[in-house]
Amino acid sequence: MNNNEIKPLGLGVAGLGTVGVGVLKIIEEHAALLSVRAGRPLRVVAVSAREKARDRGVDITQYAWCDNAVDLASLESVDLVVELMGGSDGPAYALAKATLSSGKAFVTANKALIATHGKELASLAEAHGSALRFEAAVAGGIPIIKALTEGLSSNNISGLHGILNGTCNYILTRMEHEHMAFADVLSEAQKIGYAEADPTFDIDGIDTAHKTAILAALAFGIALDIENLPVEGIRNIEAVDIDYARELGYRIKLLGVAQRRSNGIDVRVHPAMVPLLSSLAGVMDATNAVVVHGDSVGQTVFEGPGAGQGPTASAVVADVIDVARGINYPPLGIPVSDLATLSHLSAKDHVGTYYMRLKVADVPGVMADITQVLAREKVSIESMLQRGMVENGGVYIVLTTHETTEDAANAVLNRFNTLECVLESPAMLRIEAA
Ligand SMILES: NC(=O)c1ccc[n+]([C@@H]2O[C@H](COP(=O)([O-])OP(=O)(O)OC[C@H]3O[C@@H](n4cnc5c(N)ncnc54)[C@H](OP(=O)(O)O)[C@@H]3O)[C@@H](O)[C@H]2O)c1
Repeated sequence: MNNNEIKPLGLGVAGLGTVGVGVLKIIEEHAALLSVRAGRPLRVVAVSAREKARDRGVDITQYAWCDNAVDLASLESVDLVVELMGGSDGPAYALAKATLSSGKAFVTANKALIATHGKELASLAEAHGSALRFEAAVAGGIPIIKALTEGLSSNNISGLHGILNGTCNYILTRMEHEHMAFADVLSEAQKIGYAEADPTFDIDGIDTAHKTAILAALAFGIALDIENLPVEGIRNIEAVDIDYARELGYRIKLLGVAQRRSNGIDVRVHPAMVPLLSSLAGVMDATNAVVVHGDSVGQTVFEGPGAGQGPTASAVVADVIDVARGINYPPLGIPVSDLATLSHLSAKDHVGTYYMRLKVADVPGVMADITQVLAREKVSIESMLQRGMVENGGVYIVLTTHETTEDAANAVLNRFNTLECVLESPAMLRIEAA
């Protein structure tokens, strides 16, 4: 039998913005190829968005229209719902529940939804035998979900490090290349559409936290736990730290990190200095990357476009093809009932090396004061630099530590703050081997 004689997979698409339109385009433009790959034709039968009349650059008159996106789940012609509206709650959440509990497949690019309700939705999918897929929710066009749940599934994963937010990576790249301050790069990025009018989700690390929580759950078989994930964004990164990082052989990146430790799983999001020669240091502009360490495979590196119409729609349609092929396994890699409730380690338990920058008065005895503080907290110095006069007087002292706990590093910072010679709050960054 020819593929075109097999019953098409009926798709309902909720959300016709950047990604939704991208999905419609791929399905239309590659119809013949997708039909062969999927083993049956893929046919969009119904769509929903807020405004029916909006010109979206694609003809939607050929599809049934639903004013209420949740109605897509109950249309008989719809076998699979593609959710591209966004938001952790509201219509996206309602549509996910309605679709999965009716035994239909649900494909989404919505990291906020999966990070917040992933466990509940995976349980629903398992209970009803429905497929739940979310490849586009993490790192856009990079097939990192498939890599963790399929390609690397024979490995015991020891850790992963990801650059998962294109806006932040773009801002850090511009700050380094143009020697610009964070606020100036952010406003430039907003003007050219690289950053949202409200950039909080991106620059404060929340978007990276959603994605990191999802990757950690898949890599370690732990329940998604966005509430207990320590998150720090890039707002406080100064151009001077980017310059010193380079001088010391590092580059600053916003990282999502998940590592197996002897006493638990360490999951966190923060800016960090990574060695200039590491794979992640070379990831510039809006590109995303994830480095995964598996016991059998060693280190694998995944790099590519983390957002945008084509890359994100590419991942969404790949999930649709998997559903058409009949591929269905537990959405979180293992059954929800087997997910471990390993406790997250708190940030203060983190053991690592640190960079610290102090602005101090240029007077005798400063170095002695600083080394005394470090000795008192039993933190040893790996390297120390002093630079000439800086703006408004004072000099910068920059140091890196040997391995210590975050508690000890914070205690050092607190003591630095009480020294008379210290002119402003010191800066601190974690150093990650990545
Ligand atoms: N853009 C990317 O590069 C990218 C990358 C990875 C993941 N994602 C994820 O993909 C999803 C979609 O992102 P996007 O960039 O395509 O967003 P977008 O351009 O803002 O589009 C959102 C779409 O959802 C529709 N919508 C919003 N609320 C709705 C409601 N209550 N009922 C029905 N439709 C509603 C909007 O309708 P109207 O058009 O009528 O206003 C619009 O068509 C999000 O979860 C996002 O996090 C996006």
